[in-house]
Amino acid sequence: MKRILILGADGYLGWASTVALHQDGHKLTIVDNYSKRKYMKELNRDPLVTLPKLKTRLTSINKTRHKINIYDKDCTNYVELKAIIKKHKPEVIIHFAELPSAPFSMLNNIYGWKTLQNNIQSTFNVAHIIKEINPDCHIIKLGTMGEYGTPNIDIEEGWLKVNHNGRNDKFLYPRQASSLYHTSKIMDTDLLWFYTRMNNLRVTDLMQGPVYGLCVNSANEKPMESTFTYDDIFGTVLNRFIVQAVAGIPLTVYGSGNQIRGYINIADTIDCIRLTLANTPHSGKLNIYNQFTQQFSVNELAKLVKVSLNEIGINTKITKISNPRIEKEKHYYNAKHTNINKIGLKPTLLDSEVIIDIAKYVLKHKSKINKKIINPKVKWK
Ligand SMILES: NC(=O)c1ccc[n+]([C@@H]2O[C@H](COP(=O)([O-])OP(=O)(O)OC[C@H]3O[C@@H](n4cnc5c(N)ncnc54)[C@H](O)[C@@H]3O)[C@@H](O)[C@H]2O)c1
Repeated sequence: MKRILILGADGYLGWASTVALHQDGHKLTIVDNYSKRKYMKELNRDPLVTLPKLKTRLTSINKTRHKINIYDKDCTNYVELKAIIKKHKPEVIIHFAELPSAPFSMLNNIYGWKTLQNNIQSTFNVAHIIKEINPDCHIIKLGTMGEYGTPNIDIEEGWLKVNHNGRNDKFLYPRQASSLYHTSKIMDTDLLWFYTRMNNLRVTDLMQGPVYGLCVNSANEKPMESTFTYDDIFGTVLNRFIVQAVAGIPLTVYGSGNQIRGYINIADTIDCIRLTLANTPHSGKLNIYNQFTQQFSVNELAKLVKVSLNEIGINTKITKISNPRIEKEKHYYNAKHTNINKIGLKPTLLDSEVIIDIAKYVLKHKSKINKKIINPKVKWK
């Protein structure tokens, strides 16, 4: 059992990880500055269900096992983050505390800079503090598959071997993002690689695909519930399609719908965290895992939602709308993702049962769906 510091614990993945790792018996300290809630309010984008803040949510799980220490602090504040790390001496830090929305980062100069500043500074702070205090602490950082973009060659897991003029070397796989958010994640990866090779840190970078699904424990539904967003700025595509279907409005496919990405169920995200916790990198080693389980085009996802929800009497239309993003709509995509399976991930595959489960949750809250916040308003051009 480990002492773990979770940064960004109020978020979609942070809260699900907090509950799971607490149940596993780890000693947790959790931090969030509620900036995601603040920006969602500012932009009039409420999640499907507005959950209580961490202190209230914790009352239902804190009675069991270890007490969880909780801080309403900003990870971009070096002094305050350092004080927390000094006090609680984590053996592992799991860093979710970023602004993770591509449309948010492309909305205007203010949110674009906020995304870059927040994400790079929080990652810099974690790496620099760990270098100062305890380089043996394992940093687990959430990256994204979006860092790689859509190159016309296979996407390797983090690294590319290059033979140039008869000599060989290995480099970070080339990255080329298509939003400022994804660009901030590329800079994060570079920073982590810098600190790993210069200061012998131990780092895992999880290059994750878009996450879908719920983290609701049926035996204990309330405390496990994670924020579920479906709007044009903060929502992810599959969750949004399911909400559109339940609300009786067409699923909006951006552009041709041939854009392919790798996706992962939130339950597998948690298992990947567990697996990387048990696989601490050697000192001076940056482990990179491509963290997704299946590739789909947007058209395939839309069809899967339509066919699956038809089974429970929901009839859905699919409509193509002009793509608000600048991205390749027809491209090669073959991303490797075997490293995480090698250390033990048993993937949860996306099928109609998973989609219907999510839809049942959404149906329970159907009256709260705000149809006005679904169609894309942020344009890249
Ligand atoms: N959800 C996905 O589909 C997905 C896919 C790939 C990668 N990721 C990565 O996973 C991580 C978590 O994603 P998520 O979906 O849970 O996001 P989220 O927005 O739901 O959660 C992030 C949390 O971090 C907090 N936070 C942000 N900046 C902070 C700061 N400076 N100090 C303290 N707290 C701060 C926010 O308030 C929020 O609660 C992000 O780094 C994201 O880039 C997510």
